[in-house]
Amino acid sequence: MKERIQRLQDEALSALQQSADLKDLQNVRVRILGKKGELTEIMKGMRDLSPEERPLVGSLVNTLKDEFEAAFTERQNALQQEAISARLESEKIDVTLPGRKQITGSLHPVTLVTNEIVDIFSRLGFSVEEGPEIEQDFYNFEALNIPKDHPARDMQDTFYISEDLVLRTHTSPVQIRTMLKNKPPVRVIAPGTVYRRDSDLTHSPMFHQIEGFLVDKHVTFGDLKGILTHFLNEFFGEGLGVRFRPSFFPFTEPSAEVDIACVICGGKGCRVCKSTGWLEILGCGMIDPAVFNSVDYDPAEFSGFAFGMGLERIAMLKYTVNDFRLFFENDLRFLKQF
Ligand code: PHE
Repeated sequence: MKERIQRLQDEALSALQQSADLKDLQNVRVRILGKKGELTEIMKGMRDLSPEERPLVGSLVNTLKDEFEAAFTERQNALQQEAISARLESEKIDVTLPGRKQITGSLHPVTLVTNEIVDIFSRLGFSVEEGPEIEQDFYNFEALNIPKDHPARDMQDTFYISEDLVLRTHTSPVQIRTMLKNKPPVRVIAPGTVYRRDSDLTHSPMFHQIEGFLVDKHVTFGDLKGILTHFLNEFFGEGLGVRFRPSFFPFTEPSAEVDIACVICGGKGCRVCKSTGWLEILGCGMIDPAVFNSVDYDPAEFSGFAFGMGLERIAMLKYTVNDFRLFFENDLRFLKQF
């Protein structure tokens, strides 16, 4: 019996040492001390021992039990420690690694140009108005002194939705909508999307314009010239060459086109300005009395001016972009530069 206990002791302690994890360890415990465990079996067998042998074996069993418990606890602690270390190792974070950069978007060049123009005119007391992109023939043409049979309708190849509805071909209908709603004085700047059946290197079927107009008593062409010259100098830089050329629009009389000295060559002549030294930048004029009649303003009492410009063209000149299509392709390598 003594030998059996001794053997069991060696076996049990080495099994504890060899257990690879906490589950293994529990299994060893059950094998020795469980209901059907080997030590439990020995203790059951003590009944059959003689009274002299019993205390001796009893004390051996107790020693074995104590030693087993102690070794068990020690191994358990060691395994727990190992588990914690392994977990720490696998969940390790290198706090010295550089952080991940937040990628921020940027505003589209057409948006940037719009914001800047709106800013300049806001400082002059203009307020922002918007109109619908699907527009009635009346606002887009009729009230702007472009009747159905007028050849000027050919100037702007129109997308028709129905007999009476079009995709607006310019932002000028906002003039009509604003004047029908408000009595003079009005001072408005109106940015927006416009559509024309046009698509080549320098035209897109959808593009952007900004409209401006002012109506009050005693407004003259001198006011128009002064305001536009001020605006162009603020936007493109002080000392910029500006010239007004006579032109025609059905809704303004007299009308003019405004050129600025070529921002690429400074007026010497290059490919962008086609060797003229000048770049056409906007259309403008004094609001035609026929337009005032269609919005119930008295042309004898009020006068005003209006102007309109293409924003992609302005963005191209401001940022020296040479391909119109870059604005619509949304290539991030292009957009990120602004
Ligand atoms: N609506 C004109 C265009 O699209 C521009 C313009 C606006 C001209 C206001 C004169 C006055 O070409």
